[in-house]
Amino acid sequence: MMSSLVIYFSRNGENYFGGELKNIEKGNTEVIAEYIQELDGADLFKVETVIPYPDDYMECIDVAKKEQLVAGRPKLKEYLDNIDQYDTIYVGFPNWWGTLPMAMFTQLEKLDFTGKIVKPFVTHEGSGFGSSQKDLAKLCQGAEIRGGLSIPGASVYDAKNTVKVWIDE
Ligand SMILES: Cc1cc2nc3c(=O)[nH]c(=O)nc-3n(C[C@H](O)[C@H](O)[C@H](O)COP(=O)(O)O)c2cc1C
Repeated sequence: MMSSLVIYFSRNGENYFGGELKNIEKGNTEVIAEYIQELDGADLFKVETVIPYPDDYMECIDVAKKEQLVAGRPKLKEYLDNIDQYDTIYVGFPNWWGTLPMAMFTQLEKLDFTGKIVKPFVTHEGSGFGSSQKDLAKLCQGAEIRGGLSIPGASVYDAKNTVKVWIDE
């Protein structure tokens, strides 16, 4: 039986949406994760930090930058210990300062990706994957990393068909 899992990080609260700052209940990346759940029957694992990121966008930007500068590995509420039962792992995240949020490093470093297919997706405000593909190659060693899907945060609600095409690639 082929089965798939989405490992993702997504932050709600104040966020860029449609080019302006708004308070949103569901993060942009989570919208895409849920499409994958619906379209591919994937399980979902949401990476969540013990200390939540600030709701305030500008404060969050600051906290995230500092965490990246010290290569922090924030503690998670829950850890995924293994991905043995899955063939395909969708790895989804917002572009934070050019790459994955550090919480994704915390989680991905704990897993053995040998022999897995990894399909990365990112939501962003203009920088696409940034340098995250390089980081993913290190984090998912032993995996076959397939072509990624990059979606502007403001278009996630229009992206379902794009996600479907990408899943079927
Ligand atoms: C801390 C932080 C850093 C960000 N850095 C970038 C960036 O470097 N490039 C970019 O295009 N977007 C950046 N963004 C915008 C997010 O990538 C974008 O809003 C994304 O869709 C948020 O996804 P989420 O709602 O799932 O958290 C940043 C957002 C935050 C909160």
